[in-house]
Amino acid sequence: VTDSSTAEQAFDSIVASLDGPMVVVTAAVGSERAGCLVGFHAQSSIDPKRLTVWLSKANHTYRVALRATHFAVHFLATDQFAIARHFGTTTGDDGDKFVAWPSNSGPGGVPILADVPQWMALRRVALLDEGGDHVCVVGEVTAAHSEHGFTPLRLSQVAHLQAGHDAQERHSPPTERATSDLS
Ligand SMILES: Cc1cc2nc3c(=O)[nH]c(=O)nc-3n(C[C@H](O)[C@H](O)[C@H](O)COP(=O)(O)O)c2cc1C
Repeated sequence: VTDSSTAEQAFDSIVASLDGPMVVVTAAVGSERAGCLVGFHAQSSIDPKRLTVWLSKANHTYRVALRATHFAVHFLATDQFAIARHFGTTTGDDGDKFVAWPSNSGPGGVPILADVPQWMALRRVALLDEGGDHVCVVGEVTAAHSEHGFTPLRLSQVAHLQAGHDAQERHSPPTERATSDLS
């Protein structure tokens, strides 16, 4: 066992013990709506109130969020596994996920899931690609809703799901002209 694999195993063990709460991040540009299940997220400022999410470069949601002014973060409750499965195992590259789960239009046209009472709509203030397989997206809260306290759906309840896109996947072709260069 090498030092680096020991470190990676310890890393995974710590993350599993943290058992973080799961969210659905949504974004839209015009009529193109996007959303995916996200485990990488955290509050990142107190005043102003900011929340940061990390989106996989493989995801349809990432490609839409790059062009969107706002994104929304929906905090799933422990009995909302079906929403997690839908947004975490299917991809917007194949069709509009919001046909199955109704949404309303929030600030900047961002989809707000009708069935998730605790959510935040955020205006994107920064985006950082630090070279990993996920990109850091920072938002400042513009609207939020919470009906009552809730028990979060946690990573251990969804870790067995097969993600709609593997983190190493990349959209192909990367540009439209890349297609004609091949022909
Ligand atoms: C347990 C679990 C955690 C995930 N965490 C993230 C995450 O933090 N960020 C992310 O962009 N995708 C994450 N995903 C992957 C996406 O939810 C998944 O690939 C989704 O199908 C992508 O949909 P899209 O292509 O419509 O954006 C996670 C998936 C699972 C099952």
